[in-house]
Amino acid sequence: MLSLLVWNNIAIIHSTHTDRLRDTAASMIQQIANTAGNYMVAVDYATLEDYLSNIISYKELAYIIITDRDDNTVIALGTKKPEARPAIDEHPAQVDDGVFDISRDIKVAGQKMGRVLMGFSLSLMDDAIHKSRNRGITIALIEIILTIIVTIFIGLSLTRRLAILSKAAAEVEAGNYAVSVPTEPKDEVGKTAAAFNNMVTEVSKRTQQLLQEEKKTQQLLNENRQLIQKSLEVQEEERKHLARELHDELGQCITAIQADATSITDLSPQCDERVVTSAQAILAVSSHIYDVVHSMMHLLRPSVMDNLGLVEALKDEIKAWNQRNPKTTCVHHFKGELSDLGERSNITIYRIVQECLTNIAKHANAEHVNIKVISDAKTIHLSIGDDGDGMDTSAAKKHLGLGLIGIRERIQALNGAFYYETAIDDGFRIFIHIPLDNTETET
Ligand SMILES: Nc1ncnc2c1ncn2[C@@H]1O[C@H](COP(=O)(O)OP(=O)(O)OP(=O)(O)O)[C@@H](O)[C@H]1O
Ligand SMILES: [Mg+2]
Repeated sequence: MLSLLVWNNIAIIHSTHTDRLRDTAASMIQQIANTAGNYMVAVDYATLEDYLSNIISYKELAYIIITDRDDNTVIALGTKKPEARPAIDEHPAQVDDGVFDISRDIKVAGQKMGRVLMGFSLSLMDDAIHKSRNRGITIALIEIILTIIVTIFIGLSLTRRLAILSKAAAEVEAGNYAVSVPTEPKDEVGKTAAAFNNMVTEVSKRTQQLLQEEKKTQQLLNENRQLIQKSLEVQEEERKHLARELHDELGQCITAIQADATSITDLSPQCDERVVTSAQAILAVSSHIYDVVHSMMHLLRPSVMDNLGLVEALKDEIKAWNQRNPKTTCVHHFKGELSDLGERSNITIYRIVQECLTNIAKHANAEHVNIKVISDAKTIHLSIGDDGDGMDTSAAKKHLGLGLIGIRERIQALNGAFYYETAIDDGFRIFIHIPLDNTETET
């Protein structure tokens, strides 16, 4: 852009100079032709030459030649040879030999007396144009260098300030909200920095609020967990108590009733026929009550677990379940040391298997169920899988009942992990891992 301006300026200077030279030359040759006419009428060439000698000292003038009407040179001043007759130029801009040659007839009263030929050297004008061009180029170069320096300076300063901003943004991303960036000078970057500082203050305030809310929510969640775990423990304790009561009180009573009914039957020869029938009915009903109570006792607290351990209790439970659900086959696989897991781990695993088998009977329509309990040096791995209908886990359809929530809470209490995978028509598989050194959460 700058070079275009320089070249444009040079073109303007050139045309101004050439126009000025043409006009000067035109007015000088007219003046000389008029004056020379008078001297030529008087044939006073000596005075004419004096007059022209003063003029030839003009610095741009190269020569003056005066010829008579027969084209003979009468006066020749300057650098041109008298006999030379240069080609006349139209305009100083079209000159190719460095001299602008012009001529004009000398006329007196309409009569041609001779001719004036003048040459104007263009070297002075070229010098002026050359100097102007050099000055223009120098100014342009200085401006370009200054522009580059200023651009580099602004660029470096911008880069440095943007780097501070980007570093501060990284700090905020890492969670440090104590950062603040300089806001001076108040240009666009300064305004951005001020907006950034405000944003960080606001984000920090909101994050603090969020953290407090999260803390409260976490506290509530923990309290809820403790409550659920406490209620599970109480429920388990209550079941144990009920089972004992049923066994000790109701069981004893039923046994007594059965014994009495048997003695009445045994005394039948002395008794009325109807008494015997009633006694046998009592025996049958009490025996049914005994079965119901026994099954209730089993559900409440499998005595086999206390007597023979977890594995036998599970086998017992699975066997009973298979009998109740003849369309489904449940197989099991136990591996590792499972006889000394502790009361809480035992009851947790037992209740989870119970809930999963109930769920399969309720929801799965499965043909096969596979239960695995494997204990290695550090962890108990429990998996229960079926090949039934599965569940739609999309958010809209997903439903967590109390069963799965209870499983999660029981596992949480033992610092274990619980997850499941399922899809429509792809069964339901539950995976549980309980650390063997689980520090059972005390409530
Ligand atoms: N084996 C399974 N096959 C298919 N769907 C299952 C299976 N187990 C659980 N589900 C699905 O998961 C849901 C949640 O089970 P969860 O045991 O939590 O509740 P529930 O059995 O519906 O009710 P609750 O156990 O409280 O009586 C069930 O409603 C059922 O849709
Ligand atoms: Mg359930």
